[in-house]
Amino acid sequence: MTRVLSVTSECAPMVKTGGLADVAGALPAALMPQGVEMRTLLPGYPAVLDALDAARTEAGTDLMGGPARLLSGQAFGLDLLVLDAPHLFERPGNPYLGPDGRDWPDNPERFAALCRAAADIAAGQMEDWRPDLVHCHDWQAGLAPYYLKRDGTPVPSVLTIHNIAFQGLTDMNRAAQLGIAPHDLTPEGVEYFGRISALKAGLVFADRLTTVSPTYAEELMTPEFGMGLDGVLRARKACLSGILNGIDLETWSPGTDPHIRAYKAPRGKAANRAALREEMGLPGAEGPLCVVVSRLTEQKGLDLLLEALPALLDRDGQLALLGSGDPGLEAAFRNYGHRNVAVRIGYDEALSHRMMAGGDAIVVPSRFEPCGLTQLYGLRYGTVPLVALTGGLADTVIPATPATMARQVATGLQFHPVTAGALSNALTRLCDLFQSPAMWSKMQRNAMAQPVDWGPSAAAYAALYATLATTA
Ligand code: ADP
Ligand code: GLC
Repeated sequence: MTRVLSVTSECAPMVKTGGLADVAGALPAALMPQGVEMRTLLPGYPAVLDALDAARTEAGTDLMGGPARLLSGQAFGLDLLVLDAPHLFERPGNPYLGPDGRDWPDNPERFAALCRAAADIAAGQMEDWRPDLVHCHDWQAGLAPYYLKRDGTPVPSVLTIHNIAFQGLTDMNRAAQLGIAPHDLTPEGVEYFGRISALKAGLVFADRLTTVSPTYAEELMTPEFGMGLDGVLRARKACLSGILNGIDLETWSPGTDPHIRAYKAPRGKAANRAALREEMGLPGAEGPLCVVVSRLTEQKGLDLLLEALPALLDRDGQLALLGSGDPGLEAAFRNYGHRNVAVRIGYDEALSHRMMAGGDAIVVPSRFEPCGLTQLYGLRYGTVPLVALTGGLADTVIPATPATMARQVATGLQFHPVTAGALSNALTRLCDLFQSPAMWSKMQRNAMAQPVDWGPSAAAYAALYATLATTA
């Protein structure tokens, strides 16, 4: 077995703000058949400590001005290592934001502490377990590869970029507190336009870099998508690859999903659609019921959907949206004021399943999307994805074109460029296709048959680990 320490700031089902949690939560079970024993290091948020069974104290120390203990235990079938540091993590709610909706001011220190703990574990801090490799996720784990290298610990690391928009920036004057040596405060080191970037530390010091789709791996090396780090990534091109996310079929399968009226074929969606309409207060309609489950941020392009909605509504289509985030977008959807538009602002896991089951189509108009999971759920549930041609959305949907329709292989629709005009046209096409029951149900069946499980990607991670790990 290859022993891997996964370092992450969120992990489903204990703590989740987005897809990273789903991925971190699913990877260990997906990797087990590949001969990988993965343990997951998480901050000791209240929700994590509450879930931890039979915790054992592995080590105790002082971190970032307060006492910290490393605990080990199980939760939801996961082998966890938890950094219990109340002064950093004993805060309810969102893992990154305070009650005022802003980042906690000490986020750099909070996640540097997590990275310090990871490097100490790799150095052999625990009596009976030491990883062969450290797998870091996003900026919150970005300093771990740096500490490993600077400590001289001979354990290799992989950094996965789930979203380059979050870079863990902080002022240079916090370098000492974060354990960063003055000679690393350079453009070749961790400096990013006059500040420290924890993500860049990972990009520079990890042995291998991955992101969550092949297309996003290419996009990241361009100025349009690299968000100032494209040069760093081009320099490390040989170490960068894209491995597509899968989804956890135990949680996301229409045949066994306890949140819905289970079904195995597209016709089983009718009862779910009727239930969803009733729940959301939508009337019956001739056109498709489109759903959106999303963070409401610039990335997700939902402002474009607001502009393009008339194309759907003119054809008696409907929109049911579940999301939260940007207050302006929340208000714009909430106040849309059309009988065929239903909006739930908030976060609701169970409702997200009912929406996947009840929707005819799922709309994902992202400006950029490293992988995206909701279009994968859509495929699995026969909820035809209409997506922007970018990142993982480009890699996971077979778009309806004359050629793919003739060969009957299409699983969804794609639009490009990512503008309201192109989205309008795509919504009109969606409505046209919906009115051809034979074509529509073929597309649904193709979607449901498309493999979206973790199998191939888990094998790809295992192969990557095998090229790096010191023992196997
Ligand atoms: P991102 O990580 O950028 O937010 P993904 O598509 O990878 O995008 O993952 C989003 C995850 O969060 C999915 O599991 C999705 O179902 C879930 N999600 C997003 N918003 C909500 C919400 N308001 N309620 C329930 N689940 C949500
Ligand atoms: C990020 C990305 C999303 C991806 C998820 C999990 O939050 O925005 O596209 O699916 O991470 O990798």
